[in-house]
Amino acid sequence: MVYVTRRETFCAAHRLFNPNFSDEQNEKIFGKCSNPNWHGHNYVLEVTVAGHPNPETGFVVNLVELKQIVKENIIVKVDHKNLNIETDFMKGLIPSTENIVVAIWNQLVDKIPGGRLYSVRLSETENNFFEYRGE
Ligand code: NI
Repeated sequence: MVYVTRRETFCAAHRLFNPNFSDEQNEKIFGKCSNPNWHGHNYVLEVTVAGHPNPETGFVVNLVELKQIVKENIIVKVDHKNLNIETDFMKGLIPSTENIVVAIWNQLVDKIPGGRLYSVRLSETENNFFEYRGE
C-alpha cells in the first residue's frame, strides 16, 4: 500500500463557543479561542490517499485531480473565511480542529479520484495536529 499526501494551507477566522454556556463558561473552556471578536489561524491540511499504483499510470491517485478536488470542495470555502458563519459544511458545528477534520473528511470521502481516503490531518498551530481516519 502506498500513501500519497496532498498538503494545503489556509487562513481562517473562528470563535469557539457554545451558545448554551455563559460567557464565563465559554471563556473558561475555550480560552483565547472564545474571543467574541474572532481571531485567526494559519491552518495546514494534509489529505492522505491510500492505494496500490495503477499499472497503467504508476499513480495511486492523480495529484493534479486530487489538488483540484481539495481546492474546490475545501480551500475555496475556508481560506480567508469565517468558519462559524461562512463555511457551509461547518454550519451548526463548533469550529474546533476536531470538528473541522471530520467535516473535511465527510466532504472528500466520496470524491477521491483514485485509491481511497486514508486520513485527513489538520494543524491549527505548529504544536497541535488533529487526524481523522473515518472511524
Ligand atoms: Ni482558535
